Amino acid sequence: MKNTERKLTFAANWKMNHGVAEARAFAEKFLALTSSSDGLKLWFFPPAVSIAALAAALKNRPDITVGAQNVHWEPRGAYTGAISIPMVIEAGARLTLVGHSERRHLFGETDEQVARKTRAALAAGITPLVCVGETLSERDGGRTEQVIVRQIGAVLQALEVEAWREVVLAYEPVWAIGTGKNATPDDAAQIHELIRMELGRSGVSFPVPILYGGSVNAGNVASLLTQPQLDGVLVGGASLDPAGWADVIARGSQAKVRPSGGFDVVES
Ligand code: 13P
Repeated sequence: MKNTERKLTFAANWKMNHGVAEARAFAEKFLALTSSSDGLKLWFFPPAVSIAALAAALKNRPDITVGAQNVHWEPRGAYTGAISIPMVIEAGARLTLVGHSERRHLFGETDEQVARKTRAALAAGITPLVCVGETLSERDGGRTEQVIVRQIGAVLQALEVEAWREVVLAYEPVWAIGTGKNATPDDAAQIHELIRMELGRSGVSFPVPILYGGSVNAGNVASLLTQPQLDGVLVGGASLDPAGWADVIARGSQAKVRPSGGFDVVES
């Protein structure tokens, strides 16, 4: 690839969908529809029980990485129902979502737990994809910035500056998740800028990739990715069908970055 092109990430969060048989069937169809591209990173977050099957089915594609949707920060112990980082690594995961809004809001995960999980993932050598985002009432109350700064701040407190080289962030406004309402490209870009400023103020002077998530689909992915502040997308519903997901990736990877943007180049 030319070094002026950016390496976009297309991350599929299947949430509580696609058990082992469905994950294998997805992989078979998806592999038939797509070929490896060194210009893209394709990430899949299946339910934990499907990690091993999916990782095995996709192992010949160097552009694809499989991750967990959630992990515990302890490596083992009496935590019924929880899954540790060494376990997901053994199953084939090299990434993990941390602090997805459904974990925060449906399961009561705190900023402090998000920070512990992030630190544990880094210590174990897998990439944490840390999610932040405001709810509708926080947005309507004019508290978007405050919430994002608080969520990022908890992770900043827990990590050394250098550790951020291995972190990826996702901005997922809660009001946009599964609702069909996506943030406008400009709104998303503005929050990505805010996050970068916040990181910069804490001494993180190198670029940390930030994905956008929330009702991304084949119809809006290209316009979102015209924003140079977006390094990719994190997608739920529109990632569940292999043909539909291949279409989102194809359309998104055609997006032309606005010339005004200062997106940093990819070396290859
Ligand atoms: P949807 O794409 O279904 O809105 O979900 C977004 C999301 O939560 C991805 O993590």
